[in-house]
Amino acid sequence: MIRNARVADDGGTSLYVHVPFCVVKCGYCDFNSYVIEDRSIHDVFLDALDAELRSAWRFGAPTTVFVGGGTPSLLDPVRLLRLFEVINRHVSLRACAEVTMEANPESVTQEKAAIARAAGVNRMSMGVQTFHARHLRFLDRAHSAERAEAAFAELRAAGCDNVSVDLMFGVPGETVDEWRQDLERALALRPDHLSCYNLTFEPGTKLHHAVEQGRVQPNDEDADRAMFLHTRERLAEDGFDAYEVSNFAGRGGPSRHNDHYWRQGDYVGVGPGASSHRQGVRWTNLKPVESWAKAALAGLPAAGSAETLRPRQRAAEAIWLGLRRRDGIDVAAIGARLGVDVERAFGAIRDRHVAAGALARDGGGIRLTAAGLLLADRVSGEFLGAGLDG
Ligand SMILES: C[S@@+](CC[C@H](N)C(=O)[O-])C[C@H]1O[C@@H](n2cnc3c(N)ncnc32)[C@H](O)[C@@H]1O
Ligand code: SF4
Repeated sequence: MIRNARVADDGGTSLYVHVPFCVVKCGYCDFNSYVIEDRSIHDVFLDALDAELRSAWRFGAPTTVFVGGGTPSLLDPVRLLRLFEVINRHVSLRACAEVTMEANPESVTQEKAAIARAAGVNRMSMGVQTFHARHLRFLDRAHSAERAEAAFAELRAAGCDNVSVDLMFGVPGETVDEWRQDLERALALRPDHLSCYNLTFEPGTKLHHAVEQGRVQPNDEDADRAMFLHTRERLAEDGFDAYEVSNFAGRGGPSRHNDHYWRQGDYVGVGPGASSHRQGVRWTNLKPVESWAKAALAGLPAAGSAETLRPRQRAAEAIWLGLRRRDGIDVAAIGARLGVDVERAFGAIRDRHVAAGALARDGGGIRLTAAGLLLADRVSGEFLGAGLDG
């Protein structure tokens, strides 16, 4: 069972497929996604994806595949079918333990979900974010709450028995009560997994710009904290397992693909802007659809940048990623795997956070305490920073 594994992931190389198209660009989103009216670009994308997979994928059958975005469900049924034909040409999706597809309420239909399922998708992840009309508007979402509920029902009608729902809390102006209502409305759908993210203000986004100009005021931290704590309590009551800071497994179990990332497993990403990491080498594809497609179609590497991580940096990243997991990480095992003196590199940071009550020691490992969970980004960020020194 993945839950208890705290050592390096041995799940082989996972595959991520990035579909970079969206109906609108949400103001908070810094993912590589574009609003492009001319849908003939979708055909160029599919041709280039085929070419990229042919040269970039040499790793046999992955345990997990994630088709994300952007908005994969934006492709029309014929193109969606072709997307999966292209992927299946290189990777047999039916042989994979977990194949997830992201779907948005405004574009997913029962027909599209059935196409995905028939092609081997066995997990759907739908971005709902909130059920409040004014927050949906604020976030620039292209759907209503009612449409999100109808789309969920359409996924079920297509036979999708493992559906995850993404929600966000901490939307400026949102009250704790409103967040409680969102959570209840999501639970009423009986999803198999929930991701509940605290809205972050990512540099370069429209939302970040609005905050910098003083046009939008982030909520105070106490409200965000109350929402976070309520989420954990309420979802525990309903039997969800808080296996990661923002992720809760119900009947569908954890996201095996994301768990593979958090345990520093190897993965290859294809599509514009997708990043990959294998054995300490990280590379990121060209972001614009046209330049990525041009390279892929010419049989050239589609990467725009690459770096080889130093062992100390890899160890820091392993801690940074792994600390978000409920089970924490075996720091000593990371040190042994990567040949890093973790005591020297990270011992002082660990001791300081243990003394402050944010981290608990557990054999050779560490994990966030209940108090530490509230400071997860800050604490894990310190380890990440220490990986760059020395
Ligand atoms: C990149 S999106 C792709 C999924 C899909 N296109 C959608 O919008 O639902 C994946 C998830 O990341 C979360 N997310 C994206 N930007 C975020 C931000 N700035 N703060 C918190 N969560 C964010 C949202 O919950 C979203 O559903
Ligand atoms: S949040 Fe999803 S729908 Fe919105 S722009 Fe980002 S990827 Fe597209």
